[in-house]
Amino acid sequence: MGKALDGVRILDFTHVQSGPTCTQLLAWFGADVIKVERAGAGDITREQLRDIPDADSLYFTMLNHNKRSVTIDTKNPEGKLVLEALIQKCDVLVENFAPGALDRMGFTWERIQELNPKMIVASVKGFGPGPYEDCKVYENVAQCVGGSASTTGFDDGPPVVTGAQIGDSGTGLHLALGIVTALYQRTMTGRGQKVLAAMQDGVLNLCRVKLRDQQRLERTGVMKEYPQYPNGTFGEAVPRAGNASGGGQPGWILKCKGWEHDPNAYIYFITQAPVWVKICNVIGKEEWATDPEYATPTARLPRLKEIFAEIERWTMTKTKFEAMEILNKYDIPCGPILSMKEIAEDDSLRKTGTIVEVDHPVRGKYLTVGNPIKLSDSPTDVTRSPLLGEHTDEVMAELGYSREQIEALRTVGAI
Ligand code: COA
Repeated sequence: MGKALDGVRILDFTHVQSGPTCTQLLAWFGADVIKVERAGAGDITREQLRDIPDADSLYFTMLNHNKRSVTIDTKNPEGKLVLEALIQKCDVLVENFAPGALDRMGFTWERIQELNPKMIVASVKGFGPGPYEDCKVYENVAQCVGGSASTTGFDDGPPVVTGAQIGDSGTGLHLALGIVTALYQRTMTGRGQKVLAAMQDGVLNLCRVKLRDQQRLERTGVMKEYPQYPNGTFGEAVPRAGNASGGGQPGWILKCKGWEHDPNAYIYFITQAPVWVKICNVIGKEEWATDPEYATPTARLPRLKEIFAEIERWTMTKTKFEAMEILNKYDIPCGPILSMKEIAEDDSLRKTGTIVEVDHPVRGKYLTVGNPIKLSDSPTDVTRSPLLGEHTDEVMAELGYSREQIEALRTVGAI
C-alpha cells in the first residue's frame, strides 16, 4: 500500500528534539526525509544521555526513525554546492537552528527561492518576531514563557514544568501541520512559502484554556471550579490549579490501595454531572443524590474537597485497576495513573503500534513510541534511525555525483 506523503522529499536540517519530531512524523506518513548532519559529530543528541557506550542514544534513535542520514559540511564551499543540489531536488527544508544560523550559512529565504521557487522553508524558533526573536530556546524555557509553568503545580508551591514535551514535540506537531498545509496550498499556487512555528506560540496554543480563565478571573474575580474556591484567595493572574480538571466536570487525583509504597497507586476521578447518582451509589453516599446541598453541579462546587475526600475513602479500598473496572461499568470517567513501566508493558498499546519494538544494528532492540496518528490508507511501519552518514553515498548518487566525485568531496571534508 502507498503512503500519504509518497514522493515528498524533505531536506531535514533539524537537530535535538523539536524539529526531529516534526520530520519523523512526515517520514512516518511516507515522505523521504534526508537528514543533513555534520561529519564526525552529527546531531548532538546522538551522544547525549547515552546508555550504551558508542551507540546512538535513545534520545536520538527515538526521534529519527524512518530517515536517511547524509553528512555535509555546509560551511565548506563544496559542501554548500551539495546542499544547493539537495535544495533543488527537495520539496521542503525543515530547520530548527538558532535564529540567523541558516542566513549565516548563506542560505537566506531569497537564495533558497532562487534555487527552488517551490521550496517550502519550515522553521521552529523559540519566539516569533519581537523582543526575544534572537534568543535560543529549549523545552522548559518554552513552557515557562508560554503560560504552562505559571499554571502548573499547586497554589502553595513554585511554578512547575510538565513531563510532556509540549515545547519541543508539541511545536514539532504544529510545524508538521504547517508543512502539509503549505504543500496543499502549493498544489494550487505552485509556490513555496515560509512556515514558522514558535515554541512560545505552540505552548500558548496548548494553554488556551488558561487564557480563557484569565479573562473570566478579570471579569468575576473568582473561579469556582478551582481548588482556591471557596476558602482561598484569588490574585490578578490565573493561579495554579493542582489537579483540578475544571469546568462542569470537576476531577482530582485520589489515592488507591497501596499508595503508601507505590508512588503511582492513584486514580484520576471525574465527578461528571450525568453520572452523579451512580457515583453516590458506588461510594455508598446514596443520600447525596437527592440532598440539595450535593445534588447539582453548582451546589457541589464549594464542597469539592469534602466530596473528593469521601470518594477517596472508597478508592483507597481498591487498586487503581479494580477501581477503574468498577467505575467503567457505571460510565464514570476515570483513569489510573500509569507509570512508564506499566505503559511500556501494555499489550494493547503494542498491538496498535503506539509502542513499537525496533532493532538497531549497534544498540540492539529498544522500545519507542510509534505514530500516534493512524491513517487507514497510510499505515506506519517504524524503521530504525540511520547511522551517521549511512546514506551519504546513496543520496549523492541520486543527485548525480559519480563515485570519483563523491570520494573527492570526502577528501576535502565537504561531506
Ligand atoms: N555543517 C556546518 N555547520 C553546521 C551544520 C553542518 N551540517 N549544521 C549545523 N551547523 C552550524 C550552524 O550553522 C551553526 O553555526 P553558527 O552558529 O556559526 O551560525 C552551529 O552549527 C550551531 O547551530 P545552533 O542552532 O546555534 O546550535 P546550538 O547547539 O548552539 O543551539 C538550540 C541549540 C536548540 C538552542 C538552537 O538551535 C535553537 O534555539 N533552536 C531553535 C529553537 C529550538 O528548536 N529549540 C528546541 C530544540 S529541542
